[in-house]
Amino acid sequence: MKKVTKAIIPAAGLGTRFLPITKAVPKPMLSVIDKPTIQYIMEELQSVGITDVVIVVSPDSDVIVKHFSPNPSLEERLLSDGKDKLYSIAMETLKFNVNFVLQEVPNGLAGAILCAEPFINGEPFALLLGDELIYAGENDKPCIKRLVEIFEETEKSVIATMEVFGDDVSKYGNIGIAEETDGVMKVDKLLEKPSINQALSNNAIIGRYVLDGKVMDMIKTLKPRGNEICFTDCLDELAGSGELLASNFEGIRYDVGDKLGYVRANVEYALRDKDLKEDVKEFIKEIAKTL
Ligand code: G1P
Repeated sequence: MKKVTKAIIPAAGLGTRFLPITKAVPKPMLSVIDKPTIQYIMEELQSVGITDVVIVVSPDSDVIVKHFSPNPSLEERLLSDGKDKLYSIAMETLKFNVNFVLQEVPNGLAGAILCAEPFINGEPFALLLGDELIYAGENDKPCIKRLVEIFEETEKSVIATMEVFGDDVSKYGNIGIAEETDGVMKVDKLLEKPSINQALSNNAIIGRYVLDGKVMDMIKTLKPRGNEICFTDCLDELAGSGELLASNFEGIRYDVGDKLGYVRANVEYALRDKDLKEDVKEFIKEIAKTL
């Protein structure tokens, strides 16, 4: 059985939907409450035992590297001031086994994946997009865990999907479904961001994938579209040879690369935070009266 122990997080995008903050701050460092989104994603991976992670960064992403590195002067100061709780919060980002690779040119998702090829070394891997958070409640199976289980059982690449409607269909990769058994769908075709008329279904690709290591060689044969290599073309090839599955997921997805999605994530994560939630509830009730 092929085991999934590795993951790639592409984090070198330009983040243009979030200008001006993304001029100097990489999008995965935007925080939901007090934690950058990329740390939530690392925690999601850790919860399913994937510890070998490579983050694909741009030449301007020093702060991501810094976030996962020691900061001796801060740590010494917190210790000497007896601020043990803050010290352990600062130290939390050191527990991950992170590697970094550079994506020199922003040439799309497939380009980012290819940068991590030496690290993946032909093995299967999870792929988690840096601007999507998937919250799993107490009774939910984490999305990436579900995908890993399907991959390890079938040895087929698998992507997470959700239903979208109306104009939203054109914002996502779109999935054609040949058949479905016990919530696992066999994919026969994919289109990247089709018009509503071209769409194959209401099933969209979301930013969680578990992939066979052979996609690296497949990416190398893809024709670029303009400046980018489109990863959905690679998935379409897998689907064409009957090697791609899709699955729904449990929990809530937040598109933190979208302004409304970002605000929603901050409010809902605050409502789950035991120290913040009562004050935030009161504050929301006050605001609601004025709307
Ligand atoms: C990427 C993928 C797309 C997928 C989306 C999910 O698009 O290319 O297939 O549906 O992520 O968020 P992007 O959002 O980077 O344009």
